Amino acid sequence: MKSTRAYAHTNIALIKYWGKLPGHLNLPATGSLSLTLENFGTQTTLSFIEAAQDIFVLNNQEQTGEPLLRVQRFLDIVRALGKSDRRCLVDSRNDVPTSSGLASSASGFAALSLAANQHYALNLNPVDLSQLARVGSGSAARSIFGGFVYMHPGTPVDKTGGYAEALATDPALDIRLIVVQCANTCKEISSRAGMLHTSNTSPYYPTWLATHAKDLEEATRAAMQGDFKTLGELTEHSTLKMHACMLAAKPGFWYFEPLTIAVMNKVKALRNDGVNCYFTMDAGPHVKVLCKAQHAEDIAKSFKKIKGIVRIDIAKPGPGAKLQ
Ligand code: DP6
Repeated sequence: MKSTRAYAHTNIALIKYWGKLPGHLNLPATGSLSLTLENFGTQTTLSFIEAAQDIFVLNNQEQTGEPLLRVQRFLDIVRALGKSDRRCLVDSRNDVPTSSGLASSASGFAALSLAANQHYALNLNPVDLSQLARVGSGSAARSIFGGFVYMHPGTPVDKTGGYAEALATDPALDIRLIVVQCANTCKEISSRAGMLHTSNTSPYYPTWLATHAKDLEEATRAAMQGDFKTLGELTEHSTLKMHACMLAAKPGFWYFEPLTIAVMNKVKALRNDGVNCYFTMDAGPHVKVLCKAQHAEDIAKSFKKIKGIVRIDIAKPGPGAKLQ
């Protein structure tokens, strides 16, 4: 049986994407800046099957409902591009907790896109591949590439935006992202549902859109010039603005748990003691802390002292998606 296997690493946005343009292409309303991480990712194997429907197995469990539909809809797009009607078995394994705000959909759809590109002989170039991954999940467009990644916002008229590209950064920016897992539970509100509710009801959402491009531009410049302090400050600013939009939605919602706040407080205390580090949080309770490589071990040790933390990983920048 012919099969194709790909591996993609997950990524965490420093300047966040939150909100979509209208339509079914999953075009992001904002751009974003992310870091692909070495430690976590998804391996996906595609095999053709003689069946009426695709089958999706995640971590050895056959999926039904929305997770299956999302993969089937995605493969329908792939089949249209490849002029094929062949169904697939999609066998995926996550080295990251699924649906917990640790970006498993990013690595998942990036690995699936790369495998599908090969399996259905689409011959997509990196921009088109990134756009294909984006239709599956906005953050997946970034996991096609390694290191720092710049994602263009969607363009409403010609629909040519909404793709990512690798960003050449200053090598002096020797950074780590400490991933602090603050809970074992799955998230209650998917990022997709959270974005829709925020854009529909939060009075802060227009301000989020209006102020986002400047943050992205300044943070991108800081990354390229090796200006760690500016990059870190904008990283915190972007995540707090995004979560403020959610708090102001009607009804408001949040992903923070008490331990999320405890880690945020610790980051501020470390900074007051002269250790430069900055937090960012996504659609889940975990905190990711940006720091210089030389400080990572000591900072991680200080988080270990917080009672109840589930797990701490120090992540290096990781490579782009690859066929295996
Ligand atoms: C908070 O990429 O998961 O992590 O496009 O609906 O699949 P969909 O959303 P997704 O959203 C990511 C939101 C975020 C911020 C970010 O990664 O930029």
